[in-house]
Amino acid sequence: MKTLLRPATAIGRHRCRGLISVAAQQRVESDTSWLLAGRRPLDHRSDGLPGLGAILEGVDLTTPFTPEEIETLLQASDDAGGILVFPNQKPDMTIHEHMDFGRLLGELEPHAVAVGVPGAQEVLEIVREPKAGVVFGEDWHSDNSFMHKTCSYSILRGTGVMPKRGANDTMFSSTEAAYDALSPLMKERLHGLYATHSAGKAYNAGSGTNSRAAMEATSSMQLLDDAPILKTDVAQPVVVSHPRTGRPSLFVSPTFTRGIVGMHGEESDALLRFLYDWIARPEFCTRVSWEKHQITMWDNRSLSHKGVADDVTEKRVVQRVSIRGTEPIAATFGGR
Ligand code: SIN
Repeated sequence: MKTLLRPATAIGRHRCRGLISVAAQQRVESDTSWLLAGRRPLDHRSDGLPGLGAILEGVDLTTPFTPEEIETLLQASDDAGGILVFPNQKPDMTIHEHMDFGRLLGELEPHAVAVGVPGAQEVLEIVREPKAGVVFGEDWHSDNSFMHKTCSYSILRGTGVMPKRGANDTMFSSTEAAYDALSPLMKERLHGLYATHSAGKAYNAGSGTNSRAAMEATSSMQLLDDAPILKTDVAQPVVVSHPRTGRPSLFVSPTFTRGIVGMHGEESDALLRFLYDWIARPEFCTRVSWEKHQITMWDNRSLSHKGVADDVTEKRVVQRVSIRGTEPIAATFGGR
């Protein structure tokens, strides 16, 4: 296993603070380049350019990061379209260290409908039993888009049992690239529209969607049938502006979106079907394969994702920490 690449000088500053000048100390403190020393692209496009996502080798997420270091990670995430993969985390990393890293990015959001891990309610354990016919999060979605304040980052950790590499991956689509590739006329049509997002669509009794059925298929996941959010839909802009980069992206999903506000059902269904198919086009997508002790962090404000279930012969267990973001910002046409 590769170990932390934090340079000895940076570690040393804690031990010999009095021995180095203030200027040298500031230089050392603002040097966060060690975090990116092991960076490589997750994927390449057909033209050879880096595609979506980056792998950051040698970064131990149990490290106490400075605000500058966290900003460097977030910038790296922005640069990589929102996906950062951290392989080879410490095998003995605890669930509390997972949460502590999350807290450096913002307030943790316990899942509003699924019961968290006992003693660590902010952690959602996603368990897929062998031979599972249905899988939690199998259709495209952005985490917690049914909340007023949606999820900024999700931090998923491969824990107990992991599938063989290349099976049961998490798939991502850049909803920014999907937006960019639309015609100007379609972009103009979409700006100003709002769509309702609904936890009930995915989790209500009788909804018949995969997320509820998947939770019912394992005794390890429990639903809160009386969660207030199940009764309240939220209207979100169809085109949102990323709060850090200002980039516009499409913000609808077959998992949580019910309909476009103000349209007839048939009109809304047709437009949403087009957008779901468009977002799922392979040119906007990449897959993250899993290994034990890997953490994958993604930005729900520029990506849609789904759990692929292409080999259900083995159990798969991952744990997710979600960071509460802000209310989505409507993007203006031609603006940012
Ligand atoms: C999720 O939807 O957050 C989980 C995705 C996965 O299990 O791969």
